[in-house]
Amino acid sequence: MSTDLQELFQNNRQWAADTEAREPGFFTRLMQQQKPQYLWIGCADSRVPANALVGLLPGELFVHRNVANLLVHSDLNALSVVQYAVDALQVSHIIVVGHSDCGGVHAAMTNQRAGLVDNWLRHVQDVRDAHEGFLAGLQESLQVNALVELNVLEQARNVCRTTVVSDAWHRGQTVVVHGWVYGLHNGLLEDLRMTVDSADQVGLAYDTALALVKQRYRRLQAQHGADALTAAAPEA
Ligand code: CO
Repeated sequence: MSTDLQELFQNNRQWAADTEAREPGFFTRLMQQQKPQYLWIGCADSRVPANALVGLLPGELFVHRNVANLLVHSDLNALSVVQYAVDALQVSHIIVVGHSDCGGVHAAMTNQRAGLVDNWLRHVQDVRDAHEGFLAGLQESLQVNALVELNVLEQARNVCRTTVVSDAWHRGQTVVVHGWVYGLHNGLLEDLRMTVDSADQVGLAYDTALALVKQRYRRLQAQHGADALTAAAPEA
């Protein structure tokens, strides 16, 4: 076993050489400034590599990741990222990105104990509990992904409610907050239509996006129910 991770350094040298060959002067230009237009708030999951998914190069995407893509009101780490992105880099878009079959959301949904992280995931359980009735109406195989989407909407709303974003809107700066979900099974991003660019839109955008999520999962639940009935029907 390699203990000094030489293969990673080798990959890195190759990547730097390829990048420079494709675009001579790439790194020296990036040294002058970074001017990303987007802030990505995503899950730490290794299967959801932010830049790669959206085909953006170094310098084009400002990224914050944590377990279950949370924006907690008192998390100075995430808030500092948001503040730097909005005030210093002047990003135009903040995108909260959840992903299907998220391990953190699954643990939160099913009360799995994993240690310290349970306290972090308590925030996801708060989202779960707020939508208890709706989730209880879904079969188990749909509940985790439904909670993934509910969590994205909740975190996107949290972003809108930060002092940073609300002050930016107040002074007329353009910042659009989005909620997306990434499918581990197909590699595709989906827009949950929680798109907000002013303080007075937050409530309506959240309610509209929430209604769409509920509608979609109720439809899936009905389909599953129908499939189960067909499967259970006696042969003619
Ligand atoms: Co995850």
